[in-house]
Amino acid sequence: MVDERFVYSCRKHFNLFKAMRIIGKRTPSSRLWLQRQQKDLYVLRAKADGYRSRAVFKLMEIDDRFNFIKNAEFMVDLGAAPGSWSQLLSERSGENAKIAAIDLLDFSAISGVKIFRGDFEDKNNQREIMAYLGQKADLVTSDAAPSTSGHAATDHIRQMNLAKEAYLFSQYALKEGGSFIAKIFQSGEEAEFLRNLKKNFESAKFFKPQSSRSMSAEIYVVATRFKRCS
Ligand SMILES: C[S@@+](CC[C@H](N)C(=O)[O-])C[C@H]1O[C@@H](n2cnc3c(N)ncnc32)[C@H](O)[C@@H]1O
Repeated sequence: MVDERFVYSCRKHFNLFKAMRIIGKRTPSSRLWLQRQQKDLYVLRAKADGYRSRAVFKLMEIDDRFNFIKNAEFMVDLGAAPGSWSQLLSERSGENAKIAAIDLLDFSAISGVKIFRGDFEDKNNQREIMAYLGQKADLVTSDAAPSTSGHAATDHIRQMNLAKEAYLFSQYALKEGGSFIAKIFQSGEEAEFLRNLKKNFESAKFFKPQSSRSMSAEIYVVATRFKRCS
């Protein structure tokens, strides 16, 4: 699956990384440069493997660790455009899987995935998704992210609000025993968010994929074995 151009590009970048280490230049701009190269490696790899976004490697790492896609049949992907998470959900699940993906933005068709255009917080959209699935879901994923304002504190609040809405949706959509994955930002609120998740899930953990840039405040919550609060 990986072509020669990709292998060549990786070698080239690896040699550049080595050179930077040997020279020992770790000025702020060289660190930024290194980060951009690392990002590019994931971009190149996504392209070489036919994925629409480097974001796929985050879900891949999460699933390699927690292994829930294989056993999931009914799935919802929130904030799904351009669609690499949905591609992976479709690839790693069985042929009877039913996957609903929703985004504010348009994105092109993915085999085995029903695409909804709109706001996942809208109750009508939520009802349409559940009507399509025909039953409660095994897995809800949310990589939803707001468009950035450039003001870190505002962006963090918006990201946490989206994650809270995704959590609310998961309580409506999941069957007992189901799983939930969502992107959050480390903003001081994450410990409380995790405590709340533990009211509805037997296990809830943070997970920082290697493919998520280390300088980014982004982190994922992985919650398993959904239970309804009495
Ligand atoms: C980081 S991208 C998702 C990338 C995707 N996981 C992939 O692998 O291709 C975040 C997406 O969240 C979407 N989004 C943000 N708020 C949303 C909302 N309330 N409803 C639906 N989509 C939303 C944005 O439009 C954007 O496309």
